[in-house]
Amino acid sequence: MHKVAVIGSTGYSGQELVDILLKHSDVELACVTARFDDSPKYADIFPRFKNRTSLCCEKLDVEKISKTCDLVFLALPHTVSMTVAGEFLKKGTKVIDLSADYRLPMDKYREYYKKEHLDKENIPKAVYGLPEINRDSIKNANIISNPGCYPTSVILGLLPIIKDISLSESEIIVDSKSGTSGAGRKADLDLSFSEVDGNFKSYKENVHQHMPEMENILSKETGKDISINFVPHLLPVKRGILSTIYVVNKANLNQDQVYAKFNEYYKNEPFVRVINSKNMPQLKDVVNTNYCDIGIRVVKNVIIIVSAIDNLLKGASGQAVQNMNIMFGFNEREGLF
Ligand SMILES: NC(=O)c1ccc[n+]([C@@H]2O[C@H](COP(=O)([O-])OP(=O)(O)OC[C@H]3O[C@@H](n4cnc5c(N)ncnc54)[C@H](OP(=O)(O)O)[C@@H]3O)[C@@H](O)[C@H]2O)c1
Repeated sequence: MHKVAVIGSTGYSGQELVDILLKHSDVELACVTARFDDSPKYADIFPRFKNRTSLCCEKLDVEKISKTCDLVFLALPHTVSMTVAGEFLKKGTKVIDLSADYRLPMDKYREYYKKEHLDKENIPKAVYGLPEINRDSIKNANIISNPGCYPTSVILGLLPIIKDISLSESEIIVDSKSGTSGAGRKADLDLSFSEVDGNFKSYKENVHQHMPEMENILSKETGKDISINFVPHLLPVKRGILSTIYVVNKANLNQDQVYAKFNEYYKNEPFVRVINSKNMPQLKDVVNTNYCDIGIRVVKNVIIIVSAIDNLLKGASGQAVQNMNIMFGFNEREGLF
């Protein structure tokens, strides 16, 4: 049985990984890490794991972990993952990185993350872990850059039609809303209960760091320069992302034609559900699942696509385990039902 580790196991996506991996039939969770001096029991930090694991939360020790583990999940902040991913790869341990460190070309990384990349060698080796486009490359990868949460919802919402519609600058507008867990577990005044509860606001309008990731992947898929206008919003809920995507309907497609394209594109995908009824996607149908739900309306001259995911599952840890399942040749749904 393969042994795996979760690095950064006390964060929101780290805890989700631990939860999924403890239920997984084909791997053993052998190590969890965070920055503690005294190696507390994981179940003492998070009592919901009592009677489920006796692991202690260790300090990160690449040498020791790579001796026992075949694969590590890096659930670390961006700029931290790139300081350890290369060390694991050198020891022959596969890496699935949930941070943004291996998702962008170097110039874009510098521009949006305001830091020089420290592991230039491994950027081109990293496979973008969106199974719906890269399943074959994921099978043979040693390092996966797990997609961002907003990009997962937006890219999946555009893939089936992006090649068919002729688009120029400013013809895709994305309005996304995320729950607070998208920003991680660290303390932040703007994310405190009293600031968020009962409120709703936009932020980083057209300058958010996930925008170049969407543009980069969609441009690669189409061979064209795809530009996106992206405005994220903070919802007063804990988890979930709902993206509303507006595309100018230049090809004059009707609703049935657009649905047909989505149904065909995703017909064999285990975790994308095209909602063909009069209902549209909603957070309560995807939260705590690894599904991306997509609904479509073609009205006036606009194709409106609504795409919903759980940011911590299909937008992070669920997708990371889906990638591991593909890498190890397991059932892609294992641990994620
Ligand atoms: N939250 C989401 O919805 C989401 C979605 C997709 C991708 N991601 C990405 O996934 C990564 C983890 O996100 P998260 O939301 O789980 O973050 P988080 O809740 O802030 O957790 C970060 C984890 O990393 C550890 N850590 C922080 N600084 C560290 C350092 N300098 N060295 C070693 N360990 C450190 C933290 O533990 P200690 O501080 O206790 O050591 C904690 O376990 C991020 O890169 C994030 O952008 C998050």
